[in-house]
Amino acid sequence: MKILTIESSCDETAAAVIDEKRQVLGSVVASQDALHEQFGGVVPEIASRAHLERMLPVISSTLEKAGITLEDLDAVAVVNTPGLAGSLLVGLCAAKALAVALDIPLVAINHLQAHIYACRMAFGPEVFPCVGLIASGGHSNLYRCNGPSDFTLLGATLDDAAGEAFDKIAAMLGLPYPGGPQISRIAQQGDPKAYPFPRAMLRDKEHLNFSFSGLKTAVRYEIVGPGKADFSKAELSEEVKANIAAAAQDAIVDCLVGKSILATEKTGIKTLCVGGGVAANGRLREKLADAAEKNGVKLYIAPNELCTDNAVMGAIALERLEAGLLAPLEIDITAGRILAG
Ligand code: KG4
Ligand code: ZN
Repeated sequence: MKILTIESSCDETAAAVIDEKRQVLGSVVASQDALHEQFGGVVPEIASRAHLERMLPVISSTLEKAGITLEDLDAVAVVNTPGLAGSLLVGLCAAKALAVALDIPLVAINHLQAHIYACRMAFGPEVFPCVGLIASGGHSNLYRCNGPSDFTLLGATLDDAAGEAFDKIAAMLGLPYPGGPQISRIAQQGDPKAYPFPRAMLRDKEHLNFSFSGLKTAVRYEIVGPGKADFSKAELSEEVKANIAAAAQDAIVDCLVGKSILATEKTGIKTLCVGGGVAANGRLREKLADAAEKNGVKLYIAPNELCTDNAVMGAIALERLEAGLLAPLEIDITAGRILAG
């Protein structure tokens, strides 16, 4: 049994071939970072056009890596929610065309569930049930995950996602997109205690939500002064930049860690799975490991290469296929993002 999984929800065009034992036979991720870098973030129209150009070459080279042809595929799966509308549509159209042409089943993938499934791929089925933290460019969500596709939302960001905060703060410091890895790199030379940046709602033990927009404003005021917007006049030494990066990183990390541990206390589920691009952050991994140990929580963080968007985590489609949960050909995308209600 071989399934082709397709991912195009944001700015990576990715495909993978996976067998029924969840072995990855081939996987390709074509990043669009270079196209969006000059704009300091993802430009949706550019992203969808780039997916269009890359989708077929990415699928071809994935099949080549797996050593198979289209005729060897038994099913095709695709992310249809959440994400950027134009980007999702390119993947969905490609998957539908393959399903029709090859007369094979179509399976729909939820991108957020797939981010947690990255932990299942790395560590096995014992990761469920768990509390799931997805920290990415679009989302900062906490879920009770009873099983791979059985998620209940516990909390989410009220405004920006953690990755978005990393990206915007990096842009303020003159660092290229994607900002997370850049902040993480220069923060190594900085003092995380140099600035007392806000940790919004961290002391609120009732709710499991996040808010990162105030942190962005605090960083901005630190750089240019209150009420001013012109970053071109801000001349920061490398030392100040490193200190701001380290302090902002710790503020984001403390919120993600604090609320995740609170979620394990509130649900009584002492297993925590973490996925999404921000989960690749070294400081987050370090502080999560410390907090999990102190609180008796079993911690699974997706391996770095499965944190940022990829199609291997689309192996969640096998669970749906095995349960007979096929998608009809009329299935549509559901764009947008999931915020706290
Ligand atoms: O999961 P992902 O690839 O795409 C979405 O689903 O949004 O996440 C991308 C986000 C970007 O905001 C990027 O800056 C962030 O993940 N990111 C990081 C790191 N690597 C990627 N943030 C902090 N530290 C990192 N090492
Ligand atoms: Zn993602």
